[in-house]
Amino acid sequence: MDMDMDMSKQQQQEAGAASNKQRAVAAAAHVLAVAAVVLVVVWCVHFRGGVVLRSVQNKQLIFNLHPVLMVLGPIVLGGEAILSYRSLLLVPRAARKKAHMALHAAGLAAGVLGVYAVFKFHVESGIPNLYSLHSWVGIAAITLYAAQWAAGFLAFFFPGASPPARRRALLPWHAVAGVLVFALAVATAQLGFLEKLTFLQGPPLRLPKYGAEAMLVNFTALVVLLLGVAVVLATLNGSSYSAIV
Ligand code: HEM
Ligand code: HEM
Repeated sequence: MDMDMDMSKQQQQEAGAASNKQRAVAAAAHVLAVAAVVLVVVWCVHFRGGVVLRSVQNKQLIFNLHPVLMVLGPIVLGGEAILSYRSLLLVPRAARKKAHMALHAAGLAAGVLGVYAVFKFHVESGIPNLYSLHSWVGIAAITLYAAQWAAGFLAFFFPGASPPARRRALLPWHAVAGVLVFALAVATAQLGFLEKLTFLQGPPLRLPKYGAEAMLVNFTALVVLLLGVAVVLATLNGSSYSAIV
């Protein structure tokens, strides 16, 4: 059964018209996603000295993994996962579903590793854990992201886990919760960029307020914000829902 059978002709036209605009928004999202990864890598590697998981002398390099993995993981791979139902239109739906699940799994794995890296940096540098608004919202975001993955897997993928009628009922909740979790990750990243740049502008480095690095960090955060807006806009219309989810 296909949802198109349940739609009037006019509804189908509206869905089609909306999906052209959505494709344009999704294309913008892909460009912003690539830009976000390039910018955060240039910042952490070129300006901040590189990324490592182990270092005896320079613990800051361990921190640098954090922004790279958080942007690459829940935001870029998570955003692409959300868009996969709308942008991989030439491949069968079952393949899009696998892409959605696998991209989210990769995004979650990168996110968990990124959070591990920043805890490791704190512990090895004698800095307290979980003192900031960013860290509290961040723990909520990564936990909810993992919960959303587990719920999505159990409801829509795990064989026979959920009968079609229940899947249909769950889908709008899954989509709304997914957009909210994604938006929370984008908001967390905004707080993170602001916090890190504020640290860098204080002692001992005292980076210039209008210097190249400050502009790069703020611009990277803006690109991440616009990416978030594009991904959410691309999903606002429910017309991608299939009858059998
Ligand atoms: C989805 C995105 C993100 C999540 C879920 C997240 C999560 C976290 C968590 C849980 C901590 C606490 C670590 C601890 O207490 O030991 C933390 C620390 C930190 N994060 Fe992020 N982060 C994200 C993105 C970013 C980004 C893009 C930056 C940009 C530089 C950033 C900068 C920081 C900084 C400076 C700290 C150390 C200070 C603090 O604990 O607030 N984060 N992050
Ligand atoms: C194993 C994990 C997951 C499975 C099996 C799964 C499955 C699905 C399915 C079947 C749809 C319906 C798509 C359609 O017919 O239009 C969907 C949509 C959606 N999912 Fe997931 N999902 C998973 C994880 C996640 C996660 C972790 C998030 C967010 C953090 C998420 C966010 C969304 C969103 C926003 C939509 C709506 C997409 C659209 O309207 O184009 N999903 N998912």
